[in-house]
Amino acid sequence: MPKRILLDTDPGIDDSLAILLALASPELSLEGISVVHGNCSLEQATINGLSVLELAHAEHIPLAVGCELPLVQPSLLAPETHGNTGLGYANLPEPRIKPVSQHGSDFLIEKILSSPGEMTLVAVGPLTNVALAIRKEPRIVGALNELVIMGGAIRHEGNTTPLAEFNTFVDPHAAHIVYHAGIPTTLVPLDVSYQCVLLASDVERLLKIESPIPQFIKAATDFYMEYHDSYQGIKGCVINDPLALALTFAPELCEYQSLPVDVDISGGVSTGKTFADFYNYEKKPANMKVALGVRPRDFIELFLKRMEKLSLTAFKLS
Ligand code: BDR
Ligand code: CA
Repeated sequence: MPKRILLDTDPGIDDSLAILLALASPELSLEGISVVHGNCSLEQATINGLSVLELAHAEHIPLAVGCELPLVQPSLLAPETHGNTGLGYANLPEPRIKPVSQHGSDFLIEKILSSPGEMTLVAVGPLTNVALAIRKEPRIVGALNELVIMGGAIRHEGNTTPLAEFNTFVDPHAAHIVYHAGIPTTLVPLDVSYQCVLLASDVERLLKIESPIPQFIKAATDFYMEYHDSYQGIKGCVINDPLALALTFAPELCEYQSLPVDVDISGGVSTGKTFADFYNYEKKPANMKVALGVRPRDFIELFLKRMEKLSLTAFKLS
């Protein structure tokens, strides 16, 4: 039986790759997507999510529109990282499919409560929708099988401030609610995702298959690679969100430690910084499993193989 997953996302270049990876993975059944503000505006993220579903011929997957703003702070988008449309240089056709009418957080609540113990939620954007769902319906805490979060930087430098990672910095109050809710949680921070660099040569390999999917990946990641080079001196681009998605069916790609983890919401220079009490000074129980080691090329190889297969099957070229 495939693992049933829900994806909360702010598409976004690497978010789009996570959607494609979910659709390319027979171990998973993607049961719905909720969209949140983050890399681009909620309206644009919704268009992007729907367009990517159409690109992969997965129009049947329901997509719900969630929160437009963080819980407390003003909005912060990332056009320098993902481009003005959120998908770099990609130019997908305007989607024909529409979102479902439910709010993203209500959609998550209904899906989780209708199959208690079965749903795994993968959250790869700011945690606003998830926090709101927990506050509206605390019973989802006990009904979720697992929550996998892409976010935080434990020992790693930040990618948005010197200390903070984007998803936690954009809505640290939501992260605080989610981290302390009591859901069995795996955190996938920059410590592991920043080792997973997709290279230009990897994309060239995909382009050997003539299909719209490699062409989309090329156009989107060209922009993302330029960002990584000019801002961080990285040749290639880190694909954070697909790594978090992959851990739902290939957990052996990472090594984990169970730790008490928190996020700074004090409003100072370290706002949004995630930190783990490695020596348990505060005598608190672990609230999550944190991925701290990764086999990057194994993951990239898995990603490439799945994209090759999706490119062939979605367009019946095999
Ligand atoms: C996270 O922030 C966004 O830029 C990416 O989509 C990813 O979810 C990495 O910090
Ligand atoms: Ca994201």
